[in-house]
Amino acid sequence: MLGKGGVGKSTVAAALALSTARAGGRALVVEVAGQQRLSQLFSAARVGDDEATELRPGLFGISIDAERATEEYLAGQLKIRPLVELLTHSKAFHTFAAAAPGLPELVTIGKIWSMAIALRPDGGAPVWDTVTVDCPATGHGIALLETAGNIEELAAGGPIRDQAARIQEVVSHPAATGIVIVARPQELAVAEAIEATATLRGHGLPVAAAVLNGVHPARFSASDAPPLRAVADAPGAVGEAARAALRHLEQQGDDTAYRTRLAGETGLPVIDLPRVVRRRIDLPALELLADALAQGLASAGAAA
Ligand SMILES: Nc1ncnc2c1ncn2[C@@H]1O[C@H](COP(=O)(O)OP(=O)(O)O)[C@@H](O)[C@H]1O
Ligand SMILES: [Mg+2]
Repeated sequence: MLGKGGVGKSTVAAALALSTARAGGRALVVEVAGQQRLSQLFSAARVGDDEATELRPGLFGISIDAERATEEYLAGQLKIRPLVELLTHSKAFHTFAAAAPGLPELVTIGKIWSMAIALRPDGGAPVWDTVTVDCPATGHGIALLETAGNIEELAAGGPIRDQAARIQEVVSHPAATGIVIVARPQELAVAEAIEATATLRGHGLPVAAAVLNGVHPARFSASDAPPLRAVADAPGAVGEAARAALRHLEQQGDDTAYRTRLAGETGLPVIDLPRVVRRRIDLPALELLADALAQGLASAGAAA
């Protein structure tokens, strides 16, 4: 899930995982920016960063803190604890991280990669049927997805480059990875989604679909407009209802225009998710979104 802040990446990631879990699969959602949105969405305990936390039957969450993961990685590499502590508990760590650009991103994507390819010790089946990554907002999300490819290209030979190449093989393979771009039916979000798609493709990364999140349900049609307009100035409740209906009709029209633009400029299948009118997204709302998403992905897959 990639897109502008607030467009619904975490919500859509949770809904996608829920659709896997409800179909009997094992789904993992990886929260990268550490916002603890998952525990909010499922009214569950804090999602841990060591082990996956089961949030619903078959649906697990894990949170990756890039800085901590990098410290752990360095600790594993250095094997000299006091040195690691010296490094991480001082400003030196930040200097070090800055001197090794892309290292926190590489460690983060490496952790995700190792979970995505993990096999069960018994039969060798994958541990997870789906791994959904709730990426940080657009720029940071793209950096995360690009890092393995950049390091593979730029680093001189050596273990880090080899590791980056193994990660990149999975991240860039359309059978293994499908990047889902999330947008709201709004100018900035749609423009950012179109730009992100082009950037990711430029780096050879597989963008699978776009989600237009928060679409107004199709309640009226264009032929309703004239009779609604005729009573829009009527006093009291009738006029008020007619004006609300006209506003809704206008929003439906805007949604359609944004969908057309997003589909036209990216060539991606666009999946509509309805705007849920609730104080907060609860489990029934997530289930509704999960169903809409599963249906949309199925028809996108059929069309592909
Ligand atoms: N389909 C939807 N209908 C209504 N509200 C939504 C929908 N999707 C997301 N939201 C709300 O929008 C806000 C931002 O969603 P969130 O998933 O946290 O976005 P992001 O992860 O992209 O920052 C939250 O308050 C969430 O409940
Ligand atoms: Mg989020």
